[in-house]
Amino acid sequence: MLRDIRTNYQKFELTEKTVDKNPFQQLNLWLKEAVSGKTPDPTAMILSTIDQDGNPESRVVLLKELTSEGLIFFTNYQSKKGQQISANQHVSVVFFWAETERQVRIKGIAEKISDADSEAYFLSRPLESQLGAWASPQSQIIEDRRVLDENYSRYQEYFRNNEIKKPPHWGGYLIRPEYFEFWQGRSNRLHDRIEFCLSQDQWIINRLAP
Ligand SMILES: Cc1cc2nc3c(=O)[nH]c(=O)nc-3n(C[C@H](O)[C@H](O)[C@H](O)COP(=O)(O)O)c2cc1C
Repeated sequence: MLRDIRTNYQKFELTEKTVDKNPFQQLNLWLKEAVSGKTPDPTAMILSTIDQDGNPESRVVLLKELTSEGLIFFTNYQSKKGQQISANQHVSVVFFWAETERQVRIKGIAEKISDADSEAYFLSRPLESQLGAWASPQSQIIEDRRVLDENYSRYQEYFRNNEIKKPPHWGGYLIRPEYFEFWQGRSNRLHDRIEFCLSQDQWIINRLAP
């Protein structure tokens, strides 16, 4: 029964003393530990955006870079999420790593990265992924699977004789965080929660009740 499924979290703790005073460093540390803890898809994050009616919409994307400014992921700018971000830059992100019993919640502002930076990342991808980006009109209704296969073959043929480049509608977003919450599972449901709120360029750190 679903109602009987529960985990007693007891692997780690997070305290005001041990948490890094820089939330980017703390996220970096937990990401590294998720990777070495063999969490599948440790860079997968749930990204929520707001649609034109003010309703939230969520999906998984992959974190491709964590810089001192924020989190970078790549997508189709004409996708639903791309259109939603262009109308409302406020987004939220959640990571959940079951193996290390941790969650990180982030709120921030998303902006497009430079075309040159998107191009550099695009060119580092395997050819199959590059062709996939050309072949898929992401989030649009298509008649059937054949549309994708035909698009793929067409671009494969085209780029056999032409130098591959990034589609103009494809690229990265940088999410500049304004809020972080680090959640560490503990026993008896008394989990550790430490939040970071940005106030006048300073991170204010608080503990929250679980
Ligand atoms: C594990 C996983 C990783 C994904 N990574 C990405 C990604 O990095 N970029 C992306 O655009 N979509 C990615 N997707 C697909 C999205 O979840 C989503 O289906 C797609 O981006 C269309 O979303 P939209 O219609 O809200 O724009 C991923 C899905 C999964 C399950």
